[in-house]
Amino acid sequence: MISTIHDFRRPKVPLDKMGRPLHDLRISVMDRCNFRCPYCMPKDQFHSHYQFLKSQERLSFDEIVRLTRVFAGLGVRKIRLTGGEPLLRANLADLVGDLTGIPGIEDIALTTNGVLLDQHAVDLQANGLRRVTVSLDTLNPEIFTSMSGGFGALEQVLKGIDAAITAGLTPIKINAVIERGVNDHTALDLIEHFRGSPVIVRFIEFMDVGNRNAWRAESVVPSRELVARIQARWPMQPISRNYPGEVATRWQFDDGAGEVGFISSVSQPFCGDCSRARISSEGKFFTCLFAKEGIDLRAPLRAGASDDDLQQLLRGIWNTRTDRYSEQREALRRSEPGMKKIEMYYIGG
Ligand code: GTP
Ligand code: 5AD
Ligand code: SF4
Ligand code: SF4
Repeated sequence: MISTIHDFRRPKVPLDKMGRPLHDLRISVMDRCNFRCPYCMPKDQFHSHYQFLKSQERLSFDEIVRLTRVFAGLGVRKIRLTGGEPLLRANLADLVGDLTGIPGIEDIALTTNGVLLDQHAVDLQANGLRRVTVSLDTLNPEIFTSMSGGFGALEQVLKGIDAAITAGLTPIKINAVIERGVNDHTALDLIEHFRGSPVIVRFIEFMDVGNRNAWRAESVVPSRELVARIQARWPMQPISRNYPGEVATRWQFDDGAGEVGFISSVSQPFCGDCSRARISSEGKFFTCLFAKEGIDLRAPLRAGASDDDLQQLLRGIWNTRTDRYSEQREALRRSEPGMKKIEMYYIGG
C-alpha cells in the first residue's frame, strides 16, 4: 500500500542527519505576552512601541490545523501550544478542539504563564486539552513581580493552577527558570508548596536563547547543585524517562510525595534525541530553539500549495537537519560571538 499523509498509521517518518525522527510539534499561536520576564522579553526592549505581528500576519486556526495534519503525516504525535502567551489568542479552546480531531495526534498540551488560566481551564479541557504547563519561577511575591517584569499577580497564577487541577488538566507541570542571585534561594519553596499535589515542579537552567536577555554563564545554576540541595532536605532517587527524548530528568521523593524534574540544557545538553520542531505564530518553521532563522510556511500555504507540496517541503528540511546547539554552545559562542538567534517569545520555548 502506498503511504499517504492520510495514512497516519504508517507515515514515512523522515529522519534528520543524526537519525532523529520528527515527533513533537510546538506551535506558537501568539507572539505577544502579558508578562515581561527579563530572561525572555526584557522590558526596555519589548516596550509599548514594540512592533509585534499584526493579526493577519499570524497563521489562522485553519492554517494551523492544516499544517498540523501535514506534520501528523510525517510522524508528529505530540502538540504543544505556546506563545508569547497563548491564552492571549482569542478562542484558543476552539483551536484545541480542531487539533484533537486530527488523526495521529495523541497528546495536546499548553504552556502558559497562568494568569488567564482560571478563566479558560474548563473550556480547554472540554475541548480536548490534556495537560498544562505553567511557568512559575518563585513563590516570593516581590521576586515574582521582578521576574514577570512587574506584570501579573502571583495569586492569580496560583488560582490558575488550582483551576487547572479542578478541571483535570493533570499532571500539571511547573516550569521554573532558576537564575543565580535572583531566585535560586527560593527554589526549594516551590517544592515544599507543591509536594504531594498533582503538580510536578521542574527547574530549568537559564538559557542563552535569543540575543536580548543578557545571558551570562555565571547566572546559570547547574541542576546538579539544585539536586544536592533538594536531596539534603527530601531524599530522592533518579527515575527513568517517561518517553525517549524527554527534556527533563526526573527524580522521585523517597517518601512518596511525587517527583521533581530538571531541564539542564546548559550543563547536560539533550540534543542527541531531540525530535522537536517549532512553528512561529507567523508560520515560520524552526528545527532548533536556537536557530538563526526559520523557513516560511505561510507563503506556500497562502499561495495554494497542496498537502503533498507542503509535506515534501517539510520532509526536505527535516532530512537535512543537523542542529545541536546546546551541545555546541561553548564552541559556537567562542567562534561566533553575537550569533543571531531567534527570540524565545517568538518561538515559544
Ligand atoms: P512534556 O515532557 O511533554 O511535559 O513537555 P516538555 O518536557 O517538552 O516540557 P516543556 O515543553 O514545558 O519544556 C520545558 C522547557 O524546556 C521549555 O520551556 C524550554 O525552556 C526547555 N526546552 C524544551 N524543549 C527544548 C529543546 O528542544 N531544547 C532546549 N535547549 N530547551 C528546551
Ligand atoms: N532560559 C530558560 N527558560 C526560559 N524560558 C523562557 N526564557 C527562558 C530562558 N532564557 C521558559 C519559560 C517558560 C517557557 C516558555 O520557557 O519559563 O516556561
Ligand atoms: Fe511571557 Fe513566557 Fe516570555 Fe515570560 S517567559 S515573557 S511569560 S513568553
Ligand atoms: Fe533540540 Fe536545538 Fe534544543 Fe538541542 S538545542 S535539544 S537541537 S532544540
